[in-house]
Amino acid sequence: MIKLNNILKIYNPKKANEFEALHGVSAEINDGEMVAIIGKSGAGKSTLLHILACIDNYQDGEYVIDDTVVKKLSEKQYAQIRNEKIGMVMQDFALVEDFSALENVLIPLSFSKKKIKNKKEKALEALKSVGIDDLAKKPCNKLSGGQKQRVAIARAIVNEPNFILADEPTGALDTKTSAEIIQLFKELNQQGRTVIIVTHDPNIAQQCDRIIELSDGHIV
Ligand SMILES: Nc1ncnc2c1ncn2[C@@H]1O[C@H](COP(=O)(O)OP(=O)(O)OP(=O)(O)O)[C@@H](O)[C@H]1O
Ligand SMILES: [Mg+2]
Repeated sequence: MIKLNNILKIYNPKKANEFEALHGVSAEINDGEMVAIIGKSGAGKSTLLHILACIDNYQDGEYVIDDTVVKKLSEKQYAQIRNEKIGMVMQDFALVEDFSALENVLIPLSFSKKKIKNKKEKALEALKSVGIDDLAKKPCNKLSGGQKQRVAIARAIVNEPNFILADEPTGALDTKTSAEIIQLFKELNQQGRTVIIVTHDPNIAQQCDRIIELSDGHIV
C-alpha cells in the first residue's frame, strides 16, 4: 500500500522562482484500488504522480510504499524500487522514438536487478496483452497515438509492478481508443494491480473506485 503523509513539494527551493506546488498532501491508497486523481490545470496532479513514481523528490513529509520509507533510500535503492514496483505511463508516452515497440518494452527488463530469463518472450507477452504484438518490430515513430500509448503501457507492465501510474493516458486519444485504453487499465486492476490515473475526463474518473481531487496543491 501507499501512504503519503504531509508531502511538501517546492520547485526551485530558496531561489527567486521558488514555487510551492504541494502544501502538505496526505493520502492512502490500498493495494488493488483503482484511483483517479483529478483537478484543474496546475493543481499539482503531475507533481504528485511523479513523487508517487519515485521520479521526483519532495522537501518534507513522508512517503511509504509497502514497508519502505522512500526518503531513507539510497539512489540505487530508489532506482530499484522504481524499476521493480512501479510502472509509469507518462503523458507524452516518453518512448524512444526510433526504437521498435519491442525494444522500448525491453528497456525496463534490461535495467532490472533480477535475473530474468527469456526477456524477449516477456516483452512480446506484454505487447500481446495490450493487443499489439503484431507491431513489435515497427519503430515507434511510425505508430499512431493509440498504438504508442499501448507500447507505453506494455513497457510499464513488463516488470509486473504492483503499482501502475498513468498521467493523462487518454489525453491525446479519440473517444473510442480512449475507452479501449481505460479498459486495459481496468483489466490490469482486476488482475490485482493498484492503478492510479491522472485525468481531466470526468467519465474516466467515474469508472475508478475512488477519486482524489487536488486544488492548488491541496487535497479537496
Ligand atoms: N519544474 C517546475 N518548476 C517550477 N514550477 C513547476 C515545475 N513543474 C510544475 N510547476 C508548477 O507547479 C504547479 C503544479 O504543476 P503540475 O504539473 O503538477 O500541474 P498539473 O495539475 O499536472 O497540471 P496539468 O493538468 O496542466 O497537467 C503548477 O503551477 C506549475 O506551474
Ligand atoms: Mg500534469
